[in-house]
Amino acid sequence: MKKLRCGVIGLGRVGKMHFENMRHIPEMDIVAVSDFFIDKMDDWLSKMNIHHAYQNYHDLLARKDIDAVFIFTSTDMHEEIVIAAAKAGKHIFCEKPLSMDIDEEAALNVLRAVKAQGVKLQIAFNRRFDPQFRELHNMVCQGQIGQPQMVKISSRDPDLLPHDLIKRIGGLIFDFTMHDFDMARFIMQDEITEVYVKGNTLIDPTLQEIDDVDTLAIVLSFAKGGYGLIDNSRRAVYGYDQRVEVFGSEGMACADNVSESTVRYYDKDNCHMKNPLPDFTVRYRTAYLTEVNLFIQAILHDEPVVCTGEDALLAQRVAIAAQQSLKQGKPIKVPTGTFL
Ligand SMILES: NC(=O)c1ccc[n+]([C@@H]2O[C@H](COP(=O)([O-])OP(=O)(O)OC[C@H]3O[C@@H](n4cnc5c(N)ncnc54)[C@H](O)[C@@H]3O)[C@@H](O)[C@H]2O)c1
Repeated sequence: MKKLRCGVIGLGRVGKMHFENMRHIPEMDIVAVSDFFIDKMDDWLSKMNIHHAYQNYHDLLARKDIDAVFIFTSTDMHEEIVIAAAKAGKHIFCEKPLSMDIDEEAALNVLRAVKAQGVKLQIAFNRRFDPQFRELHNMVCQGQIGQPQMVKISSRDPDLLPHDLIKRIGGLIFDFTMHDFDMARFIMQDEITEVYVKGNTLIDPTLQEIDDVDTLAIVLSFAKGGYGLIDNSRRAVYGYDQRVEVFGSEGMACADNVSESTVRYYDKDNCHMKNPLPDFTVRYRTAYLTEVNLFIQAILHDEPVVCTGEDALLAQRVAIAAQQSLKQGKPIKVPTGTFL
């Protein structure tokens, strides 16, 4: 079997999760890893049977026996590491978004470097590969919904993140709603032209100290005239809550939240069912595996990747406009047009 030889950079909350999923994929060999805090990971490295581990990611990129790298570092490092990886001639799978910047020049620099080196870049908008959301997308593409007129997304995390993590991966809009902007584009098959955001700190007022919010209500306008509604919360006390509905001229389709079990128990007073899944690591396990498998296939068979750097930039454009809308309290136009 042809195998892709890979390196993994960034072994924090998300990197370790991806690694533990990916190591079971038969068509890839994880040759080496890198993390800034690699010295503190001896036990985990030996449990995962990893023999080549570097503190400096440049040492991993210098290896000639690595074809592709997976970048799972905090967002503040994506721009620098993706550019270095492209210059080293590696294909790249990177967590979203491409940069932390609130203007798109940094993300554009990344796309230019990738294009100049002719390597492949896939972005980890994993929710596109969730079986339920993929089914909604397919229904829209096959015309079952008719002309899509409205997408509604509820996206709620189970609990707050530490402030120091938020500083490295971005606040609610850049870290979390970014996925919903991509999902809205993916489901509507259209570009977002305007965004209007209301946000507050209803759960943790101290978030104001780092210029963040925990609750958002968002209205989107699309190029073909449709609309989108997104609600976000950092704390849903019942667990991870991810729902999408699309409504159009020929019907409506909705993907409900996913629970541990579909069994409902009725007694004389109430109906009981299991809580939703606890968090993203469990809810999107299949999606994480699917996106990585598709990336490997794209490289092994020299096909286009399924979720591109341009997709990342388009979602980031909406996020940048959303930040402005939140600050200015009015709708903000999202720039359209070519990038490079
Ligand atoms: N797709 C998803 O479902 C999802 C969910 C959560 C977070 N994310 C994204 O995943 C990324 C990582 O988030 P996280 O919560 O795991 O952050 P984290 O801080 O827990 O982990 C980041 C890791 O990267 C390492 N790192 C940072 N700079 C480095 C460098 N120069 N060289 C080597 N290693 C370096 C850190 O030491 C740390 O271990 C973020 O971009 C975030 O937006 C995606």
